[in-house]
Amino acid sequence: MINIGLIGHGYWGKIYVKTLLNLKSLNLCWIYNKHTDIPASELPQGVKFTKNYDDILADKNVHAVIIATPPSTHYKLTALALKANKDVLVEKPFTYHSEEAKNLFVLAKKTQKILMIGHIFLYNPAIIALKKYIIHHELGTLHYFYSRRTSIGPVYTDMNALWSLAPHDISIINYLNHGEMPAAIHANGASYINPGIEEVVDLVLEYPNQVKAFIHLSCLEPKRARETIVVGDKKNAIFEDTATDKLIISEPHHPQQAFIPPFNPISPLENQCLHFLECIKTRQAPLTDGWHGYQNVKILESAQQALDTGKKVSIAWNN
Ligand SMILES: NC(=O)c1ccc[n+]([C@@H]2O[C@H](COP(=O)([O-])OP(=O)(O)OC[C@H]3O[C@@H](n4cnc5c(N)ncnc54)[C@H](OP(=O)(O)O)[C@@H]3O)[C@@H](O)[C@H]2O)c1
Repeated sequence: MINIGLIGHGYWGKIYVKTLLNLKSLNLCWIYNKHTDIPASELPQGVKFTKNYDDILADKNVHAVIIATPPSTHYKLTALALKANKDVLVEKPFTYHSEEAKNLFVLAKKTQKILMIGHIFLYNPAIIALKKYIIHHELGTLHYFYSRRTSIGPVYTDMNALWSLAPHDISIINYLNHGEMPAAIHANGASYINPGIEEVVDLVLEYPNQVKAFIHLSCLEPKRARETIVVGDKKNAIFEDTATDKLIISEPHHPQQAFIPPFNPISPLENQCLHFLECIKTRQAPLTDGWHGYQNVKILESAQQALDTGKKVSIAWNN
């Protein structure tokens, strides 16, 4: 049985609790919150509560921690957990600086601990099914991606739409685009509520294989969209996570032949947690390991630079 401590019991941490309690092969034994108490009556049976994360890190019975706190705390908490001999699953965005992300990747190697980033869409069964179609050349040569991630809120005061939303689009598109990394990025954005913190951001990523990705992000739009469209020279795919039919494959000139491929209906967060458990047991590197997290942060950092300067930014991948 794997003993897990959860660091962070906010909006997303509470969703983790529901998922973890349903998994038989792990034991959730600690929950941490910084300020807010959890009354004993609301605490799941056998779970201890603390406002001091050192209690969790010092507990030798805890094998692994899940970190679901604000991104500005991820670097410090992940480093402390790895040094305390814990395997770590940390939420996205991994860190705010690529140097920090790289340091954590190196630290995990040195301490021989599992480090996984919560890039949940790579554990979404519809994305996994779509990846298979692309690998089997069903869509033909890829032309471009169009990704749209919009909703009303949440509007963060310490994180723009780029850092809160784009980690998902970037991880999905790099994964579907055969693991290619973008060579250059353009960005444009606007802020209407908190000056200097863009609630709307548009990105264009240029890949070495000539594929482009057009990404639209907004925390101010009434329509909730979690959509990625892949346009190939044979077929197109539409992934919309909010739809009943999450994945549709169609032929551009024969729309009536569109079909909805079947896939495992497991919840992406459960699938992500199961992958973490599997990596803890087998010691294999997670699909979304520290290096994957570093690449994601490096792209976000370049996008922020493009946003700040209004200029296209080239990304060097020689390290
Ligand atoms: N994968 C996804 O789809 C997804 C979805 C949502 C969020 N997330 C990610 O999950 C993480 C948490 O987001 P959230 O929406 O759950 O945030 P949240 O509701 O604000 O919760 C933050 C949690 O961290 C604690 N905390 C606050 N400041 C802290 C500090 N300085 N040091 C240590 N702990 C601190 C809070 O404790 P108190 O409540 O006691 O202050 C709370 O437990 C973020 O990285 C976010 O990007 C991922």
